[in-house]
Amino acid sequence: MHRNNNQTTISQFLLLGLPIPHEFQHLFYALFLAMYLTTVLGNLVIIILIRLDSHLHTPMYLFLSNLSFTDLCFSSVTMPKLLQNMQSQVPSIPYAGCLTQMYFFLFFGDLESFLLVAMAYDRYVAICFPLHYTSIMSPRLCVSLVLLSWLLTTSHAMLHTLLLTRLSFCENNVIPHFFCDLSALLKLSCSDIHINELVILIIGGLVVILPFSLITVSYARIISSILKVPSTQGIHKVFSTCGSHLSVVSLFYGTIIGLYSCPSANKSTLKDTVMSMMYTVVTPILNPFIYSLRNRDMKGALKRVLQKKTIF
Ligand SMILES: *[C@@H]1O[C@H](CO)[C@@H](O)[C@H](O)[C@H]1NC(C)=O
Repeated sequence: MHRNNNQTTISQFLLLGLPIPHEFQHLFYALFLAMYLTTVLGNLVIIILIRLDSHLHTPMYLFLSNLSFTDLCFSSVTMPKLLQNMQSQVPSIPYAGCLTQMYFFLFFGDLESFLLVAMAYDRYVAICFPLHYTSIMSPRLCVSLVLLSWLLTTSHAMLHTLLLTRLSFCENNVIPHFFCDLSALLKLSCSDIHINELVILIIGGLVVILPFSLITVSYARIISSILKVPSTQGIHKVFSTCGSHLSVVSLFYGTIIGLYSCPSANKSTLKDTVMSMMYTVVTPILNPFIYSLRNRDMKGALKRVLQKKTIF
């Protein structure tokens, strides 16, 4: 690692956390703890249900199980540290810890968007080629799609992390955020960050725009195939099988688009923080509910699993 010798190098960062007034600290601590526990529990229930119930061993639910695992990890990257820091006097994080947090944040954030693409493709095949569904969405293809997602996200997160290790940090080590965010870290650095910004612009754009376009194309095809043979049954089928996925996609990309499209004139860190809160806390907590509450298969699986347990 290349560092300047005549500058003091930083061994830890301070995470300022959330701008919560002192008298509300305990209230918010309890709120975040409850939300985190709900996220972990809700997603664990989905993973376990899908594992236990053989009716749910279909590509759609295996992808959903992957998505739940990703949500669980995604919120575990930021929430426990946030909760710990809310309790401590000096909310610090070591340099290596900060980089690790950033790596996994990018990793699971990306993974989520790639899994949403795989799920959109699955719905596209199910609705446009119902007769060939099982032969197209073979277990081999599903595993390959998941492996490909892992490969792409690993390289993307690794690239940003390695580029960040080249930078040096001088006196200022205060991150005005509740986790080690890539852009917040770049603002702190006292080295030249042009390459980092260029890579973020090009690859980051690809990582967001490519999945989003693929999902849009899948849904455009689904809608056009429905419009060819319009029937209430067809429309009902699309809503029952795609509704949950579409809600999750809107939630995920809605917050990302909201984050980057609102003009941040004064570089308001408050807006960044609130929007980050949306996709690190709110999205992972809502996904299990969106999928399980309005889904007959999941409810049936829960019933079957619980009945099995009471028989034994
Ligand atoms: C993820 O998806 C793959 C492919 O469908 C499946 O084999 C695997 O069990 C899933 N993993 C989890 C944790 O659900």
